[in-house]
Amino acid sequence: MSARGLFITGTDTGVGKTVIACALVRSFAARGERVGVMKPVASGAQRTREGLRNDDALALLAAANVPLPYARVNPYCFEPAISPHIAAEDVRIDINPGTIATEYAAIASICDRVIVEGAGGWLAPIGARDSMADLARTLELPALLVVGLRLGCLNHAELSRRAIAAGGVAFAGWIANATGEPMEREAENLATLGRRLGGAPLAVVRHAPQAAATLRLDAAAAALAGRG
Ligand SMILES: Nc1ncnc2c1ncn2[C@@H]1O[C@H](COP(=O)(O)OP(=O)(O)O)[C@@H](O)[C@H]1O
Ligand SMILES: [Mg+2]
Repeated sequence: MSARGLFITGTDTGVGKTVIACALVRSFAARGERVGVMKPVASGAQRTREGLRNDDALALLAAANVPLPYARVNPYCFEPAISPHIAAEDVRIDINPGTIATEYAAIASICDRVIVEGAGGWLAPIGARDSMADLARTLELPALLVVGLRLGCLNHAELSRRAIAAGGVAFAGWIANATGEPMEREAENLATLGRRLGGAPLAVVRHAPQAAATLRLDAAAAALAGRG
């Protein structure tokens, strides 16, 4: 049987997609699942003897409990930390969602669950026309939205939620993440987000610099697993 997958998107870059994705990976693994990961498109990478390596892909691999070749987890990796579609054009590479789907299928075939982290936000471009949204649709994965709790997140969250629905992608829910100082009037903001996004968050994650590397989201993983 093939794995169940989840596409982690966010209201912006830097809102905690990697932190949340890794926490979910740890929690699904703690439930006894074989958990694989993907960061299909990454920009911002170091040159190593093995080739380019991106920190998000490495963090996801470190959290996962199924060993996977780097190139399968991160088939498109670009050195400069710029929009992937520009980085790809610079080196004359076409980011092909079909190629990503092939790698995803290989990972899914040996896992119970695959956590896929997008790059940037929902409509971040990966080519002349395609965006992260097209990738999630090609992979047929439900989208989980990480909302970075900061002024402006109500707008970004609802825009993302509407675009996910407009793209015909299933919505797996949302997780609020405090990437910095507590947001003013956080409780009211969370209540507003709940009304606008169609339900309470799967989790509200506090700002905890030391904990980010070991964070688990057991209740959120249980809720997601319980949906069958
Ligand atoms: N809840 C949190 N507490 C402390 N630091 C966090 C938290 N969430 C994210 N961060 C930090 O914020 C930065 C951006 O998070 P990251 O997960 O890399 O975002 P994204 O993947 O959306 O770009 C990272 O340095 C990360 O360690
Ligand atoms: Mg990330």
